[in-house]
Amino acid sequence: MPKADHWENVYRNKKFDAVSWYAPHLGDSLRLIEQLCPDKTAAIVDIGAGESTLVDDLLNHHYLDLSVLDISSTAIEFTKQRLGAQAAQVGWHVGDVTQYDFGSKKFDLWHDRAVFHFLTDPVARQVYVELVRRSVKPGGYVLMATFGPNGPLQCSGLEVVRYDDQQLHHVFGDNFQLMGSELTEHHTPMGTDQQFLYCWCQVSH
Ligand SMILES: C[S@@+](CC[C@H](N)C(=O)[O-])C[C@H]1O[C@@H](n2cnc3c(N)ncnc32)[C@H](O)[C@@H]1O
Repeated sequence: MPKADHWENVYRNKKFDAVSWYAPHLGDSLRLIEQLCPDKTAAIVDIGAGESTLVDDLLNHHYLDLSVLDISSTAIEFTKQRLGAQAAQVGWHVGDVTQYDFGSKKFDLWHDRAVFHFLTDPVARQVYVELVRRSVKPGGYVLMATFGPNGPLQCSGLEVVRYDDQQLHHVFGDNFQLMGSELTEHHTPMGTDQQFLYCWCQVSH
C-alpha cells in the first residue's frame, strides 16, 4: 500500500488518543525545543506531526513562526480544527518528507518524533538528510526522536529502524554536530512502554 494511503487509513479509522504514539503532550520535545531555541521568533518545523499537541503547546509558549508537515491530510485537518482560530498562525504542509521541498523557507529548528525511523531505505534516509541540510539555517538545530536500541521493531504495522545516538549521527554525517541525547520511555495508551532516543545536533556553519 502506498505510504500516504497507509497513514490516511490510520487517521480515518483511529481516534487521536488510540494510536500507540499518542501522548497528551510531547513534554520531552517541548522541553528540548525551549532549551535549544529560547527565542520565540525561532522558525520551527514539526515533521510528521500527525495529530500531536506539540504545535498547540508551542503556540501557548508564544512561539511565533511554526510550520507543520504531515503526509496525511486527515491528520492536518484534525489539528487545524482543534486549534480553531490559532491555526491561522501556523504554516501547514501536506506531503511526503522524502519528496518535499520547503522552497526558500529556512528553519532554526527541525523536530521529528517517530517519522525518520520508518525510513528503512538508505536512499530515502539520504534524501531526508539532504532536505534537512537545505532547510535548516547554518547554526540551526535538528531534534530527532526515534525508537531507541531496545525500542519496538515495528510501529503501525510497518518496519522501523532503531538507533542509538552514534548510529543516528552517522546517518546525518559530519555536517551535523552531535550535541546531546537522551533515552526515554513512552507509555502507550495500550499500557506498554517503548524506548525512544532523543538526539539533537547543530548544523555546521
Ligand atoms: C508514529 S506517527 C508520529 C506522529 C507525531 N510526530 C507524534 O509524535 O505524535 C508518524 C507520523 O508521521 C507521518 N508520516 C509518516 N511517513 C511520512 C512521510 N514520509 N512524510 C511525512 N509524514 C510522514 C504519519 O502520517 C504520522 O502522522
